[in-house]
Amino acid sequence: MGQSVFQKDLFKGKVAFVTGGGSGICLGITRHLMQHGADTAILGRKTERLVQAASDLEASTGNKCAAITCDVRDPKAVETAIAATLERFGRIDFVVNGAAGNFLAPAAQLSYNGFRTVMDIDANGTFNVCRAAFDAYLRDHGGVILNISATLHYGATPMQIHASAAKAAIDSMTRTLAVEWAGLGIRINGIAPGPIDDTEGMSRLAPGDLKDRMIASIPIKRFGTIDEIANLAVFLCSDAASLIHGATIVADGGAWMGMTKSLAG
Ligand code: HXC
Ligand code: NAP
Repeated sequence: MGQSVFQKDLFKGKVAFVTGGGSGICLGITRHLMQHGADTAILGRKTERLVQAASDLEASTGNKCAAITCDVRDPKAVETAIAATLERFGRIDFVVNGAAGNFLAPAAQLSYNGFRTVMDIDANGTFNVCRAAFDAYLRDHGGVILNISATLHYGATPMQIHASAAKAAIDSMTRTLAVEWAGLGIRINGIAPGPIDDTEGMSRLAPGDLKDRMIASIPIKRFGTIDEIANLAVFLCSDAASLIHGATIVADGGAWMGMTKSLAG
């Protein structure tokens, strides 16, 4: 991360609970939150990678990071993870739902279980975490929830019926929870990244020369960076975003409009 435009101690004393925080975009979000003073808990299924990430984050930021092995598809495991975070840090101010699964598969070849698996991780996982965090802490103390979405479902994305449906469900939850929980001081928003460089997502979805073809259709002619998404997350967690509620903010350099632009010449 280069020099931040945000105050260094913006999140001093705050705690973030980040699913998918052991890798990629959500590792970047976690790093930025910690660089601004927060302690964090990061969740995923791969214990070794989580422990290594937590250790690196602590070393580079000087703040605390708990590595918690948890499958977000399992509500009881999620409740246990929330309880462990509260036990360790005493509070949860920010919940980031980033855990996701994806792969390219045409609908005609996608198995029932393949569709269900992605819906379960992305959509059910997001609900499980929101619900468990609400019960254990947010209902009484307020906080900020950020749901990591995508732009796949704004149009129609072939070979992405599973992820598109899951992210559409997440956007819907962002709006519904924003209405139901606003009175309790809980602010809920989403981030819809476009294609982001150096991520597992793009290594799966933009293999080989597909990347160049995608870039040609993006108005800014490049993929986004993890830091750019993390900066948006910092802003949305901060009080500077106090009026932003129930919104899913697109950060994609105009990518989702790219097809229209390229047809227009
Ligand atoms: C077709 C596939 C498949 C593939 C798995 N399946 N991979 N089908 N093509 N490439 C099917 C399996 O055959 C199985 O169905 C079902 O999906 C479940 O597979 P499992 O391997 O048992 O599932 P699991 O171990 O739970 O792993 C979940 C996973 C895996 C999603 C399949 O890839 C994973 O753990 N992913 C996490 C990391 C990840 O995906 N990161 C990218 C996020 S990027 P059957 O019928 O055989 O039982 C992202 C980008 C969004 O979300 C937008 C970008 C613009
Ligand atoms: P990533 O590194 O693969 O991140 C996904 C994370 O989710 C991993 O850390 C993974 O950890 C965790 N995870 C997956 N299944 C889980 C489960 N059942 N329980 C708990 N954790 C689970 O991919 P990424 O590309 O950075 O994507 C991060 C987020 O951004 C996702 O929500 C993705 O949909 C979104 N996004 C990415 C892009 C992009 O260009 N990359 C674009 C738009 C949206 P474990 O394997 O240890 O479980």
